[in-house]
Amino acid sequence: MIVARGVAELRRARAEIEGESVAFVPTMGFLHAGHLSLVRAAVDRADHVIVSIFVNPLQFGSGEDLARYPRDEESDIEKLRAEGVHTAFLPTVPALYPPGFATRVQVRGPLAERLCGAARPGHFDGVATVVTRLLGLVRPRIAVFGEKDYQQLLIVRRLSEDLSLGVEIVGAPIVREPDGLAMSSRNRYLSESERADALALQRALRSGREAIERGGRSAATAVENMSRVLSEPATVKSDYVELLHEPDLTPFDDDPIRGRVLLAVAAHVGETRLIDNCVVNIPPDGGQ
Ligand code: PAF
Repeated sequence: MIVARGVAELRRARAEIEGESVAFVPTMGFLHAGHLSLVRAAVDRADHVIVSIFVNPLQFGSGEDLARYPRDEESDIEKLRAEGVHTAFLPTVPALYPPGFATRVQVRGPLAERLCGAARPGHFDGVATVVTRLLGLVRPRIAVFGEKDYQQLLIVRRLSEDLSLGVEIVGAPIVREPDGLAMSSRNRYLSESERADALALQRALRSGREAIERGGRSAATAVENMSRVLSEPATVKSDYVELLHEPDLTPFDDDPIRGRVLLAVAAHVGETRLIDNCVVNIPPDGGQ
C-alpha cells in the first residue's frame, strides 16, 4: 500500500493505476468497523481503492470538536493495509488548502437547509469543498459514503451530478454495535452512563418507525413521540428530530406519510453530539 502525504505523491500513485477502475473512500480517520464496511464496498466494486484520512477544518464550526477529534494514524494505516487498499492519502492541511486557496463549494435548497444544515451552519459547505477537492485529485469512478451521514450522502450525490463530476456516489448501510448504537468515531467520547443513554437515539427511531408502519398519518405526532423518547435520559438533549421525504428532504407538512421517509435524529449526549437515521418505505396505500 502506498501512503501518500502530499498532492504530488498522490498524483504519482494515481498515475500508476491509470486506465483501471478506482473507488474512493474519504474519511476523517480513527477508523472503525463502519469505515471498514465502506472500504469493503469499494474493494468489491473496483480494481483499486484509494482511502483518504483528513480531519477537514472547514467542516467544523467554532466550539466544535476539531482540536480533540480522535486520531490514530498508525492503526488506521494498518487497518487499510489489511483490507487491501492501494493508496492511503493522508494530506496535511496546507497540502489540501495551500496558501491562496480561495474556493468554497455550496449546495443550496432543501437538501442542505434542514437537519445538520440548520444545526451546524457552514458544515456542508466545508464538506462539499473538501469532497470536490478530493474527487478532483483522486478522479475515482465511484466514491463510497456511509448512510449514517444520510444528508451528507444526498448532498454529495447532488454535487457530483450538478458539477458533472462523473463520479457514481454509492451509499453503504449503517454499521451498528450489538446493542444498536450506530458506530461513530465520536462514541469514544461517551462515559459509561452516557453510552447507555445514547441508545435513546435508536429507541426514538424505532418508535417513529413503528408508528408510521402502523399507519400513523401525522408526521407532527410521530415527531412529538420520537422527541419524547429521545429526551427521556437526563444526559440527552435533543438537537433535532425530523421526518422528511427521501431523497429530496422536504417536510411532510399535512401530507399523509407515504413513500420513502427519512427519520433523522441528532442529540447531545453529555458533551457529545450524535446522529442517527433510518429510511422507511410506506407503500402508496399505506400498506393497509
Ligand atoms: O463523513 C466524513 O467523515 C467527512 O464528512 C468526509 C466525507 C470525509 C469529508 O470530510
